[in-house]
Amino acid sequence: MSENYFKKYPNKEGFFNEYGGAFIPPQLEEEMKKINDAYFSISKSHKFISELRDIRKHFQGRPTPVYHCHRLSQKYGGQIYLKREDLNHTGAHKLNHCMGEALLAKHLGKKKLIAETGAGQHGVALATAAAYFGLECEIHMGEVDIAKEYPNVLRMKILGATVVPVTHGLKTLKEAVDSAFGAYLQDPINTIYCIGSVVGPHPFPMMVRDFQRVVGIEAKDQFFDMTGELPDNVVACVGGGSNAMGIFSAFLEDEECKLYGIEPGGKSLETIGEHAATMTLGSPGIIHGFKCYTLQDENGEPAPVHSIASGLDYPGVGPEHSMLKDLEKVTYDCISDKECIDAFFELSRMEGIIPALESAHAVAYALKLAKENPKQSILVNLSGRGDKDLDYVVENYGIPK
Ligand SMILES: Cc1ncc(COP(=O)(O)O)c(C=O)c1O
Repeated sequence: MSENYFKKYPNKEGFFNEYGGAFIPPQLEEEMKKINDAYFSISKSHKFISELRDIRKHFQGRPTPVYHCHRLSQKYGGQIYLKREDLNHTGAHKLNHCMGEALLAKHLGKKKLIAETGAGQHGVALATAAAYFGLECEIHMGEVDIAKEYPNVLRMKILGATVVPVTHGLKTLKEAVDSAFGAYLQDPINTIYCIGSVVGPHPFPMMVRDFQRVVGIEAKDQFFDMTGELPDNVVACVGGGSNAMGIFSAFLEDEECKLYGIEPGGKSLETIGEHAATMTLGSPGIIHGFKCYTLQDENGEPAPVHSIASGLDYPGVGPEHSMLKDLEKVTYDCISDKECIDAFFELSRMEGIIPALESAHAVAYALKLAKENPKQSILVNLSGRGDKDLDYVVENYGIPK
């Protein structure tokens, strides 16, 4: 991918064409400007780059491998490959941007990291980064997700973070963002809101994308080394869209690679509140300080959403994805809860890899593509591992024979 794209998007005000920006209270404007300026000066310095490179190699265990799914490829046709972000330290891609955000926070002299979490993976990753750098950490999480993803709640607490239960509204990801924003507003000087995806006001969608680019850079080289070609298809799940932007960013100019962002179709696409298909069924609007495709109710408020995967359960999406949809650079499609569960067990039993429910959406779509295109290759970003989901899956779906 040429650097021109990354220089052009976002523009100075944080817009990806019409999406993005910073629709924030006046008291945050100064702080966001400081973060933006620091990002441009500090993060381009030799010291910052070599520190982050060292962390990625020795702490995170990067590069993560690309793996050829030989049994699945034989069964479904196609050649299916996984970029193994589940093997990144803490079990998901989220640590890629958390270490970057926390390193920046340290350089800015911040004392405390604040964030929301849905599936708990971003919360665990940020708590890990806080422990690494010796910073305080406060994670806001909906009560519904606390019950669903309890192993991750324990991990955050063991790592020294404070977990703040969010009890209003649907008690899931959107409300957790509301609550974390509120806490950040109380002390923006000493704290920093380390947002968990390519969402929120500028400069967060840009910073998180840039920190996640390592996934695509590695995957492109690794895939080429293994096959001598580029993949025909690249598939990633989309909640806010950080793992998808990470991998897509390396392939945006390769016309021969088709890119697929997979949203949660939930229980039904027919009824509002039963899915979180923001790109498929939403329209442009403003949520949490930025403009993007959103699912809205009849009053223009964020609509209730549902997904089996807590990390995809959000009525907005990254502004860059919103632009890429309009530019038709990426195809956005849905996978239902049922298809996700089937793929969860299929990958576990055919390849010995238990995926996160979020990532299982991408796997399910890859299996469909493989059946339809038996001569093509498919690279899936396996964004995380499924240990956090075991209790929920077994209690609600049982274990198939
Ligand atoms: C494993 C995993 N994959 C994907 C996501 C969705 O986030 P994003 O769309 O930002 O990659 C989450 C969110 O919690 C996650 O835990």
